Amino acid sequence: MEIKVTKTTNPKPIPQDESTLGFGLKFTDHMFLMDWDEGIGWHDARIVPYGPLEIDPASTVLHYALEIFEGLKAYRTAEGKIQLFRPIENARRMNRSAARFSMPDIPEEDFVEAVKALVDVDSAWVPYGFGTSLYIRPFYFADQVDLALHKVKHYRFVIIVSPSGSYYAEGLNPVKIMIEDEDVRAVRGGTGFTKCGGNYAASQRAGDRAMGKGYSQVLWLDGVERKYVEEVGAMNIMFKIDGVVVTPSIAEGSILPGITRKSILEYLRAKGIPCEERKISAEELMEAARTGRLEEAFGCGTAAVISPVGTLAFKDEVYEINGGKIGETSQWLYDTLTGIQWGKIEDEMGWVVPVK
Ligand code: PLP
Ligand code: COI
Repeated sequence: MEIKVTKTTNPKPIPQDESTLGFGLKFTDHMFLMDWDEGIGWHDARIVPYGPLEIDPASTVLHYALEIFEGLKAYRTAEGKIQLFRPIENARRMNRSAARFSMPDIPEEDFVEAVKALVDVDSAWVPYGFGTSLYIRPFYFADQVDLALHKVKHYRFVIIVSPSGSYYAEGLNPVKIMIEDEDVRAVRGGTGFTKCGGNYAASQRAGDRAMGKGYSQVLWLDGVERKYVEEVGAMNIMFKIDGVVVTPSIAEGSILPGITRKSILEYLRAKGIPCEERKISAEELMEAARTGRLEEAFGCGTAAVISPVGTLAFKDEVYEINGGKIGETSQWLYDTLTGIQWGKIEDEMGWVVPVK
């Protein structure tokens, strides 16, 4: 793929105080753009100065939400190298999302090349502190100027990047999660397994309600029986019950197949540590909490990394997990995963990819 690069003549100051970065608040000097037109395919791959996109008020995405996105990070190692974590998995997932919406594929190698090219152009923006990274947000939307829902003939693919710190204000301190029993996020046959903007729109109300009650996010129940726990607003969920790491199975297609989740399961299996992917009912969880067998709970995701859950609530019951402190397995997984990502420990699984 040929990428035309036009550099900004007006660079912004790079944030110096990394402790105030927050998550996804500041953006770099450049962005990647590419267009798709029927009969032509993807064309005009380019890196241009970061700035507003011009969009017609009748554009499909503004009315019918035909939009999908990805999330990955670039990490700076102590030796000054910049590396990505399993970017090909994001490329594959984006194409699985695209297929669900009848959107055209992006060749996996082009996706990874575009990410690398943009991170390289803005490499000075990759923060230095351990725990900070350059969050990469590729997204792609239907841009047909037409209010009738006919076949879409024009799409736009964009990548923006943001120097970021921790996703939750709590950092590695445990978060409070409540099981949502009113709204549902996804149903079988729906779009739960995709990373589409609409899934997050449908989650907003429950998330706001939970925040109003002092919780960080909700843990969704399945949309059919409303019995089995699925995932949290911005991360997958894992529990340690009776010494075994268990996580909801993604077989029904209503849960986002997280790359962090997949990596943790692969790592646990490689180390011979017991783990299970299966249905977990809210009742099973609460019973394990009541009887002290729920040893740990943690969310996992690109933005969230490993986020220990210190409080779990369902209806009128509220339980503190592991005394509200991070558990041994959660801490070990956090250290291992971040160690690999920031190049502090050997990448024995072959997951990291240098930008150059
Ligand atoms: N589930 C949801 C709803 C998410 O938004 C995310 C974040 O991307 C995840 C799970 C975790 O996925 P990953 O580990 O690929 O970031
Ligand atoms: C990510 O972890 O990359 C996500 O997309 C979650 C998002 C809600 C910040």
